[in-house]
Amino acid sequence: MYIDYRDKKEIGNTGEFVSAIGLGTWRIKDYDTAYKTFLHAFESGIDNVDTAEIYDSGRAEEFVGRVVKAFGRDNIFITTKLAPYSLSDKYSAVKAAENSLKRLGIKYVDLILIHWSEPSLNLVNQIRNLEYLITRGYTRYIGVSNFTVSELDIAIENLSKHDIVVNQVKYSILDKRVEREGLLDYCIRNKISIHAYTPLEGGLVAHNEILKQVGEKYNKSPIQIALNYLISHTRVIAIPKTENEEHLTEIINSMGWRLDQRDLDILSTIEDILY
Ligand SMILES: NC(=O)c1ccc[n+]([C@@H]2O[C@H](COP(=O)([O-])OP(=O)(O)OC[C@H]3O[C@@H](n4cnc5c(N)ncnc54)[C@H](OP(=O)(O)O)[C@@H]3O)[C@@H](O)[C@H]2O)c1
Repeated sequence: MYIDYRDKKEIGNTGEFVSAIGLGTWRIKDYDTAYKTFLHAFESGIDNVDTAEIYDSGRAEEFVGRVVKAFGRDNIFITTKLAPYSLSDKYSAVKAAENSLKRLGIKYVDLILIHWSEPSLNLVNQIRNLEYLITRGYTRYIGVSNFTVSELDIAIENLSKHDIVVNQVKYSILDKRVEREGLLDYCIRNKISIHAYTPLEGGLVAHNEILKQVGEKYNKSPIQIALNYLISHTRVIAIPKTENEEHLTEIINSMGWRLDQRDLDILSTIEDILY
């Protein structure tokens, strides 16, 4: 594999770059603790955050709004996700986007994704309604989440003016289906960034023996090896979630260095433990 040494990654083909690690906001337990941790993250150079209308019934978006208000909106790339049923017609799409913006306390987000592909709903309509949200000025860019190669093909074919800039998918060192199934290669070819979600497998990677062994060589923890592996791939931005200051420091120190080619090759052959 070609090693991507950059800790700033381009979003799609936009010419805009964000930190190779952003922060997720799913299942935050204590918003006050998380507030301090996220502020610290932004002060330390993490500049992108992921949320969704459905996380904690909107409270995660309100939380992001609070942190961004304190830090300064212009310096943070904000992604939110709308559920497929919210995008099934134009009216619902506008309403859902307005509600998200209200919770976030801002006039526009940087990126709105369709949260997942819902087989019972018309994908083409959702894509067109999503694109309409750019026209309305509610978002600067659009993208998708949990999309397969064939779903991405449909999305790309049915856009009139704008591009899909991100596909947010599950990707970790213990779950490399995106590599095996050709999704990563497809995204690289089409200049679509990958948001790697659940990159720590909920913290499970911290206990992996192989990662511990590789980490000893670099004086890095298994968490840092797991994240460094992901961001060493072209187009990949990892979005772990933490509300814990110590965990944040560990996450931040996953950047600024790279595993060498030999270790990346070894790590790429670890069998998926979870699938
Ligand atoms: N598009 C989708 O369908 C989708 C699905 C799932 C997730 N996501 C997004 O991706 C984000 C991340 O995924 P995730 O939350 O599922 O899982 P994750 O980032 O793999 O794991 C989060 C868990 O790991 C713990 N953790 C964080 N840093 C740690 C460290 N240094 N050492 C040990 N444990 C650590 C966290 O606890 P502490 O907070 O205590 O550190 C939390 O319990 C989500 O928050 C969400 O924004 C998107």
